[in-house]
Amino acid sequence: MMTAASPDGSITIGVDRVDERPHYHVRADGDTLVAPSPLGFDFEDAPPLRDGFEVIGTTGRTVDDTWTPVWGTQDTVRNHFAERTIRLREADGPERRLTLVLRAYDDGVAFRYRWPEQPNLDSLRIASEETHFRLTADHTAWWIPDDYDNYEWVYRETPLSAIRDRATAISFNSYLEDDEDRTPVRPTSKEDRPGAVNPPLTLRSPDENRYLALHEAALTDYSSMTLQADPDAPTTLRTHLVPRPNGVKVKTSVPHRTPWRVLQIADRPGGLIESHLLQNLNEPSKIGDPSWIEPMTYVGIWWSMHIGTHTWGQTDAHGATTERTKRYVDFAAEHDIDGVLVEGWNVGWESWLQDDNFDFAESYPDFDLEEVAEYGREKGVALIGHHETGGDVPSYERQMGEAFALYDSVGVPAVKTGYAGPIRPEGVHHHGQQMVNHYRRVVKEAAEHNIMLDVHEPVMGTGIERTWPHMMTREGVRGMEYNAWSEGNPPRHTVTLPFTRMLAGPLDYTPGIFNLTPEETMPDHRVRTTLSKQLANMVVLYSPVQMAADLIEHYEGEDAVEFIERVPADWSEGHVLNARIGESITIARRKKDSEAWYVGTTTNAEARILTVPLDFLDAGQSYVAHVFEDTPASDYEDNPHAYRIRRGLVTTGGTIGADLARSGGQAVILEPATAGDQEEYGALE
Ligand code: NOJ
Ligand code: CA
Repeated sequence: MMTAASPDGSITIGVDRVDERPHYHVRADGDTLVAPSPLGFDFEDAPPLRDGFEVIGTTGRTVDDTWTPVWGTQDTVRNHFAERTIRLREADGPERRLTLVLRAYDDGVAFRYRWPEQPNLDSLRIASEETHFRLTADHTAWWIPDDYDNYEWVYRETPLSAIRDRATAISFNSYLEDDEDRTPVRPTSKEDRPGAVNPPLTLRSPDENRYLALHEAALTDYSSMTLQADPDAPTTLRTHLVPRPNGVKVKTSVPHRTPWRVLQIADRPGGLIESHLLQNLNEPSKIGDPSWIEPMTYVGIWWSMHIGTHTWGQTDAHGATTERTKRYVDFAAEHDIDGVLVEGWNVGWESWLQDDNFDFAESYPDFDLEEVAEYGREKGVALIGHHETGGDVPSYERQMGEAFALYDSVGVPAVKTGYAGPIRPEGVHHHGQQMVNHYRRVVKEAAEHNIMLDVHEPVMGTGIERTWPHMMTREGVRGMEYNAWSEGNPPRHTVTLPFTRMLAGPLDYTPGIFNLTPEETMPDHRVRTTLSKQLANMVVLYSPVQMAADLIEHYEGEDAVEFIERVPADWSEGHVLNARIGESITIARRKKDSEAWYVGTTTNAEARILTVPLDFLDAGQSYVAHVFEDTPASDYEDNPHAYRIRRGLVTTGGTIGADLARSGGQAVILEPATAGDQEEYGALE
């Protein structure tokens, strides 16, 4: 017995011996999704652990429990799986031992390796993890390249078999469809390898009846996995771990366990989004009293630096002044927004990206941290602090204890960190083992000071927010900022992210721009959506710390700001109602501990008419729908700002029509109708 079958019996993962070597396979509903694929390791200083094993024992168990996230997209999460543990020992030689753990869930499978404590093995210098994924069809794939330092790429849609073509993998960081001749922006040292991607990798079967996502969970003291095409087998991917500067992939001691290798399996694209598999594969929360952890919406001193009207550093146009921050606090207080991010408050920005010299304890002379924090406290608005390291990790590690203590002492409950620049020491990659460990040290340090985190230039999420629920959100995405100073993000980008990057967990994309063609950056830069799509993205692009990113001046006097005032950052349940990857999406989410629903619908560069079915509403209850949407004249290129608001009564079983402009959207609030509402509104037209 070397298999595990999902609770509903539809999915199995099993291990067999092929040519003396353990191979695993995955099946669903009688179809083989992953053909027998090798497992094992090569080491720098020891013989490989690939074959010649004997099975010294297997055990199985079934777990079915339900846990309550501190925050999230659902009130409770069921963790129901069958697990099979297979203990292997080398038949000859030092008799090294290796354990395989397989899990089957109704929404996917996972497996990991464990090295138990043993007499002849006390440390590991992994040269390569030899886990292969022999996928059995040439699926349609959505992916970004295997950049070791950066996930800020536009997702590409190709056949799975096209990933191995290095040229395909490197030449596309452009929103243009016909971008084959763009200059590669990839480090040349990696060009002798076949194409590879950074997970999560999303796949659709040729018959469009199955959706898969390949990723990892619980990444701890290990390097991130990239997936490299096999030059000889068009639909096979091989694990390629991000190297340390000396080429070693992972250096650690025994006992040890790898992250889980995870395959999400769903019969509709929305199933991938609704799954909690990654979180279920992580340990329960280590935060004893999480009462200080609270989702929040925020505005910030941020976009003006990206569009160029203000600076992070001390100039005549310095953004983070006491006076300006107070205006942001006033705005937040007036509009029911929980927090204000302040970037550029501390000295060191003059040498950012040269020789970083950030001091996380010293404010610029025109910014008084205590005064501003106190002002916020009086108005019930939290400050969100900022630590831009520029990649100078040694300096940050020296300072971070005091830096978090300072924020804690003035009552700042959340900090955005950043690693925009090459990691020091040179050769260390953002996604390698040393940085995985650094990011975790920051998580632990922040917990000591009851500070929530929003990490930019992070390592990809792997579900650790279950264990560390103050690890609220992260970037790891080509976010809004690109629209301010690069060729920007294509209309399809945010209808691709929910099915790709968002599977790894919350993302700090920073939606909510109203002035989509800011004069300062025109004509070269603009945001390629309508205003209504910006609102809808506040629901679609899930983050428990959710930004409304525009300048407050751009919100003043806009009726649509009502949606930003009312949209929460924490939810009780959610359903994906429409879903075509890269084309369109509708997500309905119920506000935490409330009967109110928020529904976001968005489209790519094509205008389209979609129907939002209201089956999720309570029967016998009438709701007022507040619909923020494109007008017939809206268009992301010619008329991005145009929107209208219509209101009316709806009930379960009804629908709302969503007439979307090119790169348009619709954002809806549905709340139980009061007697007054029943009189005021007719049926929604
Ligand atoms: C890059 C981050 O993604 C962005 O949000 C931030 O403003 C800059 N770095 C400066 O820290
Ligand atoms: Ca960034």
